[in-house]
Amino acid sequence: MSSATFDLTEIDHVAIAVRDLDAAVAFYRDVIGATVVHREAVEIDGVEEVLLEVADSYVQLLTPTRADSPVARYLERRGEGLHHVGFRVSDCAAALESMRSAGAAAIDAVPRPGSRGTTVAFVHPKSAFGVLIELVQENRAG
Ligand code: CO
Repeated sequence: MSSATFDLTEIDHVAIAVRDLDAAVAFYRDVIGATVVHREAVEIDGVEEVLLEVADSYVQLLTPTRADSPVARYLERRGEGLHHVGFRVSDCAAALESMRSAGAAAIDAVPRPGSRGTTVAFVHPKSAFGVLIELVQENRAG
């Protein structure tokens, strides 16, 4: 039974930290068969990302664009691999507040802009059995 008070609609994306973005894109596109739908450098996070569509969800490949980005530090510490899981929610602020009131440690005090026009907030892995969680609200019309 759930006590969460927010609307969880989908796994939005599984994010994977990689050193060679083009090589990783080629693998997920050509070997797994996922479709590339978006590529964007997110300067505030120091990353370049590629989204590959898998049904209603995405694989998000992330690589650092500068040495002091969190993803660069992650790669140094832990190597390539699963970086975070994005849960799609209908209301990011409500989801963040619900998780915080349930005792989860938020990284973002308030929701902020994510890639491709989404609104996002991160929750610390210490609250989630070692996995960084991203709450993702789609803002696309229709
Ligand atoms: Co993400």
